[in-house]
Amino acid sequence: MEFENVIVEKDDSIAVLTLNRPQQLNALSYDLVKDLSLAMQEFDHDDEVRVMIVTGGEKVFAAGADIKEMADRGPFDARIQERLAYRDRINRIAKPVIAAVSGFALGGGCELAMSCDIIIASETARFGQPEVNLGIIPGSGGTQRLTRTLGKYRAMEMVLAGETMSAGDAERFGLVNHVVPVELLLDEAKNIAKKIAAKPVLAVKAAKEAVLKSANTTLDEGLEFERKSFYLLFASEDRKEGMKAFLEKRKPEFKGR
Ligand code: HXC
Repeated sequence: MEFENVIVEKDDSIAVLTLNRPQQLNALSYDLVKDLSLAMQEFDHDDEVRVMIVTGGEKVFAAGADIKEMADRGPFDARIQERLAYRDRINRIAKPVIAAVSGFALGGGCELAMSCDIIIASETARFGQPEVNLGIIPGSGGTQRLTRTLGKYRAMEMVLAGETMSAGDAERFGLVNHVVPVELLLDEAKNIAKKIAAKPVLAVKAAKEAVLKSANTTLDEGLEFERKSFYLLFASEDRKEGMKAFLEKRKPEFKGR
């Protein structure tokens, strides 16, 4: 698998996808979003891969959608619709995805991080939704995910005034899981990825699905969904092995079934 705008590497059961337009601060062009979306879908179907890490490297995560590319577009331009379709597929990845964010994560970059399941930030990370400066608003979930994460008032300040947020504040307000020195960013993301990769795969998949469901349901509907997935996992071999191993005081050997 090779892509022009995304470097993909497989390290055992962990796939690392590095956005690769450094001259443009990893601005999310149509081609980059397409490459990222296709690569992630490929890994989603690759049985060897358990967890994905999306990063932009040490200098910048992504400075948003490519403004040069957007400048002459109209609202019904097919490329914009297609781009959003590729982008939407990233939200539907079933395997856990960790964002490793260093430097700017602005606009579509901040939205991309928020589409991931866990966000690890370096001390230099800065999050923001500055679209208002360009006469637009966030278009890939910023107004919704930021509000659900930070609450209305902090989200409003970022979206209306275009204010950015430091890694430290982002950690304090629940937008990132951990902040680490830049040189440790990928290691920290990999450590968490390895922990998840060692868990029974069907339970991990069901857990991600259930947590994401909470954003779109009432509590009662969410609890019902959770209960059904919980029951379903009793049919898995790994569930039997997990409980048996606990009772026999040994390490479980999960098979992913
Ligand atoms: C295209 C970009 C870019 C972007 C930076 N570059 N951001 N190109 N789209 N979003 C390019 C610059 O043009 C420049 O290219 C090079 O990257 C380096 O950028 P500088 O501005 O010189 O760097 P610096 O002074 O360090 O400033 C960094 C920055 C600034 C603060 C991140 O670049 C910036 O404000 N960028 C735009 C951020 C933004 O508004 N993002 C939201 C986009 S809209 P040259 O060729 O001049 O060297 C969006 C909507 C999402 O994301 C909706 C999805 C559907």
